[in-house]
Amino acid sequence: MEQTPALKAIGRDAARLLGQFSPIILSNRAPVEPLADGRLAPGAGGLVKALTSLASATKASWVSASRTDVERDIARSGVPLNSSTDPDQGFPIFLAPTDAEGYQLHYTIISNPLLWFAHHYLWNIAVEPVVDQSLHKAWLDGYRVVNEAVARTALATARLLPRRPLFLTQDYQLYLAPELIRSEMPDAAMQHFVHIPWPEPRYLKVLPATMRDPIFKGLLANDIIGLQTSLDVHNFLRCCVELMGLRVAEAEGAVLYGGRLVWIRAYPVSIDVDAMRQLGESSRVRELEAEVETWRTEKLIVRVDRTDPSKNLIRGFLAYERLLEDHPEYHGRVVLWAFLQPSRLDVVAYRNYLDAVQATVHRINARFRSDTWEPTRLELGEDMDRAVAAYKSYDVLLVNPILDGMNLVAKEGPVVNKRSGVLVLSESAGAHEELGAHALSINPFDVDVTARAIHRALRMAPLERAERSNAIGQIVATNDVARWVRLQLEDIRSLTPPLRGQSRARDTRPVLVRR
Ligand code: G6P
Repeated sequence: MEQTPALKAIGRDAARLLGQFSPIILSNRAPVEPLADGRLAPGAGGLVKALTSLASATKASWVSASRTDVERDIARSGVPLNSSTDPDQGFPIFLAPTDAEGYQLHYTIISNPLLWFAHHYLWNIAVEPVVDQSLHKAWLDGYRVVNEAVARTALATARLLPRRPLFLTQDYQLYLAPELIRSEMPDAAMQHFVHIPWPEPRYLKVLPATMRDPIFKGLLANDIIGLQTSLDVHNFLRCCVELMGLRVAEAEGAVLYGGRLVWIRAYPVSIDVDAMRQLGESSRVRELEAEVETWRTEKLIVRVDRTDPSKNLIRGFLAYERLLEDHPEYHGRVVLWAFLQPSRLDVVAYRNYLDAVQATVHRINARFRSDTWEPTRLELGEDMDRAVAAYKSYDVLLVNPILDGMNLVAKEGPVVNKRSGVLVLSESAGAHEELGAHALSINPFDVDVTARAIHRALRMAPLERAERSNAIGQIVATNDVARWVRLQLEDIRSLTPPLRGQSRARDTRPVLVRR
């Protein structure tokens, strides 16, 4: 496929800014999932989408944990997986060996129910989490072990590369890896990007210090820590002060740790707008779009999400129920199409959540359906083409997470939508910092406010719809994935300490303030 302008820009920026480095991306999930029959399934979630652009443009090496038996076999073989089935395309993926039991502790006990829940304020804190021996064991035998395996594989990969390694570690599943890498390669350039919200210090105190301290020590082994929004940066710096007793320079976004300066920066993640539009014009998406026309009603509300408690699916359906209660005129004339990707179903909390979501939809449909009308269309599946067909067709896009690092649905939908649809957006999604002024903002907990926002969106005059959706499209096109990458690469070039004997491109050391 033709390279998009964003990919070309990333390639140019990488050549300009990364000449001295060999980049290595580290993430828990590999960008593609090898299936038993040799096919490659695309990886789930926003992280993979954003980083694939960087890896494709720079031919970076990518290191991930082996998550499945197929991946464990590949890890054992020692041969990297290619991200594309075309051997001339793609980039190499090095899978770190794990054993199934250790990985399960890492993923289903620590990373998702514990760390993800801590970052998104998802606990009912009166009764959970219960920190006990089994949790500590999962931390040591699962989380730590998988982090060590990924770090070791990344170090081995770095030793094969021609230039100074640049480790780009991603997200909450790998907080411990950077410290191990730093201890083996003190001169490496290291950046860690956290794709999810950073909580305020008091909430993070739920984690015992035996977990919290290694998390900060691991992260602070990097030269730069990237977060999504200015609020995340603020919260991180507060945590450094309150939980680690460190000195920070809030205005400059720097922490003094172990005699080194660590920079804390916001880089709002984004999408490849042309790639999304190209996909929108593909024949399969057009076919699926035509199929939507056969069943849609006059107005269509769409939501596309992983089945994650942070996505606030149930309150979204309750808001829709309120809309149907208050406005019988919509009966038979509107459908809410929820296209949901089942997520993390090996984690108990996620299974229970999906059950609750389905029960809510069934109840609402039973309450309002008629012989000719089903109010909610709930589809479970993993199919980007179908998601894009939904994006093209909506009048209202509902994005109402309790809390979200960024939320790429809020950016993907508006750039392909054909109906000047309205974005109803949670004020607690990271995307709100950029798009809030042109969306209808909602408090995600308030189902009445959400219902009223949907109602307003459904009745909005065409001119206002067009103005709002054009403004969002322009912001996303300007703040695209190439900009996300460029801002990080510029900082890596100017803020990572030079190798001994070399000079830094630009010295912007802050004046440190004492706590
Ligand atoms: C979010 C996280 C990623 C994660 C993705 C999918 O985007 O930030 O780190 O990979 O969700 O979740 P999963 O657990 O399926 O990898």
